[in-house]
Amino acid sequence: MTRPHLKTKQHLEIDGVDTTQLADKYDTPLYVTSSDRIKQKYNQLKQALKKHYPNIRLHYACKANTNLNILQILEKEGCHIDAVSTGEIYSAIKAGYSPEKILYTGTSVSNEELKYAVDKGVMINLDSLHEMRRLSKITSTEVSFRVNPGVGAGHHDHCITGGSESKFGIWEEDIVEAYKEAIKLGLKPIGIHMHIGSGILEVEKFRPAIEKMMDIVGEITQQVDINLKFIDIGGGLGIPYKPEEKPLDIEKFAKMITTEFKKGLKKHGLEQPTLALEPGRYLVGDSSIILTKVNDIKENPFHKYIGVDAGFNILQRPAMYGSHHGVVNATNPQNAGNYIENAPKKGVNRKAEIAGPLCESGDILAENREITAQEGDILAILDAGAYGYSMASRYNSRPLPAEILIENGEPRVIRERETLKDLLTKQKTK
Ligand code: LLP
Repeated sequence: MTRPHLKTKQHLEIDGVDTTQLADKYDTPLYVTSSDRIKQKYNQLKQALKKHYPNIRLHYACKANTNLNILQILEKEGCHIDAVSTGEIYSAIKAGYSPEKILYTGTSVSNEELKYAVDKGVMINLDSLHEMRRLSKITSTEVSFRVNPGVGAGHHDHCITGGSESKFGIWEEDIVEAYKEAIKLGLKPIGIHMHIGSGILEVEKFRPAIEKMMDIVGEITQQVDINLKFIDIGGGLGIPYKPEEKPLDIEKFAKMITTEFKKGLKKHGLEQPTLALEPGRYLVGDSSIILTKVNDIKENPFHKYIGVDAGFNILQRPAMYGSHHGVVNATNPQNAGNYIENAPKKGVNRKAEIAGPLCESGDILAENREITAQEGDILAILDAGAYGYSMASRYNSRPLPAEILIENGEPRVIRERETLKDLLTKQKTK
C-alpha cells in the first residue's frame, strides 16, 4: 500500500476527509496535507535505521516544504533540520527547533549569511575552501565539510549533486587538506557530509557513495588528528510517482547503508559517530495533494485538454523536470487508475492532457492520462508534498494558494490563500 491516507469512496478522501468538500469550503487550487502520513514516514525510516545502528539522526531537508506546521510535526517527532538559507534557518527556529538541531548547508554563501548562522548558533557545513577561510575570520566554531565523493545519482540531471558536473561540495581529493587547514585557522571540524542527489529509488545507487565516504573518512582520520562526531550521508531517498515505479525498499536501504557504514568504521578503526541522513522528499512527498477545479475542456485533432485552475505556478515539477504526478478525478474517482488502492477503473475513453491556466505552452501538469472529467470536477494532483508549494510562484500574477493540514481527521488552514492585493505588496509607484 503506497498511499494509505488516500481512499476512494464516493469521492476521493484524505485521512477520511472528503476532498470535494474541502475544495468547496476553501476554494481551489488548494494544497492538502496529511499530518499522520508525515509522522508515519519519519518513524518508518528512523526505526528501520535504528534496528541496525543506534546512533541515528534525521535532518529534515526543509527545502522540500517549509510550512511552519510541517516543520513542527517533525520537530515533535524528534527530527533535526537541514537548512540551505537564512530563510530556512529563520523558519526552523520560528517553528521551535533549537539551533543545535540545525545544520546549515549552503552553497555560494555570503559573509552576511555566515554571520547570521553563527549568531543564531547553527552549525555550518562548509561547501568550499573559500567559505572556510571567510568563516575563520568571523568565528572559531565547530564546523563540518560537504565533500563531493565523485559519484552522483538522481531523477533528473538537475537533481544530481555529486560527481564531476556538480557545483556542490569540496572535491574528494582536496578534503584532507581542508580539514588540516581548518584546524590551522582555528576552526573545529567535527563532521563530514555528502548529498549525491535526489529522487533515488534503487538501494544500490547509494552503495558506491557510502563506500567512498567511509574511505574518505578513513583517510581524514589517518592524516588529521580529529575524531569525527557525525557522518552525514545526505538525502535523496525517492518516492514512486508513476504507478509502475516501486517504492524504495526502506528495510533493505537501512540495512545496506548501516552495513557499509559499520564496515567502514571497522576497516578504519573508527569510533561510533552519529550517522545522519537528510531526507526531504521521502518524509513529506506523498503526504500532500493539490485540489484543482476543471474550468474548461477542449479537443483538437491531436489532443484533448482538460483545463484546470492550477498550473506550474502551483506545481513546477512537471514543467521543470518533466516529472510525472498522478492525477485522480476526486469528484468522480472511478478512473483513479493504478494510483489508489482498489479503485475501480471505468468510463475512460480518450487520453487527456491536464493543462494549467498559464500563458505558456509548457504549462501541462500531466500528459496523456486516462482520465475523464467534466467542468466543475475537482482533480487531485498526487505526491505534491515535496518541492510543491516551496517551488510555487506568483507567475502570471496569480496569488499563491491556501494550504490545509488534516490532523486527527480535522482540516485546519495552515496558510491563507493570497489575495490580488497581496500581489502588489512591496511594489512602489511614484
Ligand atoms: N540535503 C541536501 C544538501 C540537499 O541539497 C537536498 C536536496 C536534500 C538533502 C534532500 O533531498 P531529498 O531527500 O528531498 O531528495 N526540486 C527537486 C529536488 C531538488 C533537491 C535539492 N536538494 C525536485 O522537485 O525533484
